[in-house]
Amino acid sequence: MESATAVSRLSELRGRDFLSSADLTAEQTEAVLSLAGDLKHGRRRVDLGGKVLGLIFLKASTRTRVSFSVAMARLGGQVIDLNPSVTQVGRGEPIADTARVLSRYVDALAIRTFAQAEVDDYAHWASIPVINALTDLEHPCQALADFLTVQETFGELEGLTLSYVGDGNNVAHSLMLCGALLGVNVRVGCPSDFAPDAAILERSRALAAERGSVVEVLHDPVAAVRGAHALYTDVWASMGQEEEKEERQQAFAGWCLDEDLLAEADPRAIVLHCLPAYRGLEISAGVMEGSASRVFDQAENRLHAQQALLAALLGGL
Ligand code: CP
Ligand code: NVA
Repeated sequence: MESATAVSRLSELRGRDFLSSADLTAEQTEAVLSLAGDLKHGRRRVDLGGKVLGLIFLKASTRTRVSFSVAMARLGGQVIDLNPSVTQVGRGEPIADTARVLSRYVDALAIRTFAQAEVDDYAHWASIPVINALTDLEHPCQALADFLTVQETFGELEGLTLSYVGDGNNVAHSLMLCGALLGVNVRVGCPSDFAPDAAILERSRALAAERGSVVEVLHDPVAAVRGAHALYTDVWASMGQEEEKEERQQAFAGWCLDEDLLAEADPRAIVLHCLPAYRGLEISAGVMEGSASRVFDQAENRLHAQQALLAALLGGL
């Protein structure tokens, strides 16, 4: 993207929330990825002048928590950990009150929780940007880092095929929406009882149609990955589904992203996983550690993608 256009696309995002991958337009998503690359390679510097990001995480996190914290530090801002166990959030103070109070102190909130309705509620009551740091429905910050990683390997994203195999979960949903915005063909391969959300599928298909790409759901792992440029998987039991772990392991038998499945993809195919991973379940140890794996570059890219996102939402450009 031409740089002046990218800057104007990013300035449109100042003060906005990022609750879903579909909250950005195709052009805004491309501009965020372009800025992420510029920040990563030192072509651009952003100074947020001491702005503060509050982190409200009701679920565990390594990558998201640390990458947001380091991103703010590198941008000249800082983070306050509003862990529910040390704030009144854990005591059940209403979101309407918490959001209005925190808006008087901090400049943005990154929230990891269960229901998407909770981040929507925070965004409704807060007067500052609210970022979805993972809900049961979506993981939009992850998808930005994922497509940055694919772009670094293949250059152009448009026309590539990304195949996600496993549970039709939050990560799958954001990949479908973000991939559709970027003109990537997205295939989700899953057992029929674990298909993605119907409304997300419909929305991602509508977005993909605007770019001439397709979003498909298939119930055969080999058909799902055949010829794909990027193979992606995630845990079979997400946070909050711990009690379904055994049952899900049975339902997903045959869905491991292993060497045989990788052999069906394009010979240049890369392997992605949002992490944390369970080797021997959704991904084989050999594929995870093999030459096609980009999982640690992908994890690093959380930092760069979120720096770009924060710079845009917090008006640091
Ligand atoms: N991929 C990801 O969001 O990891 P964390 O749960 O460690 O933040
Ligand atoms: N689908 C996983 C992603 C973790 C980063 C979960 O929600 O637990």
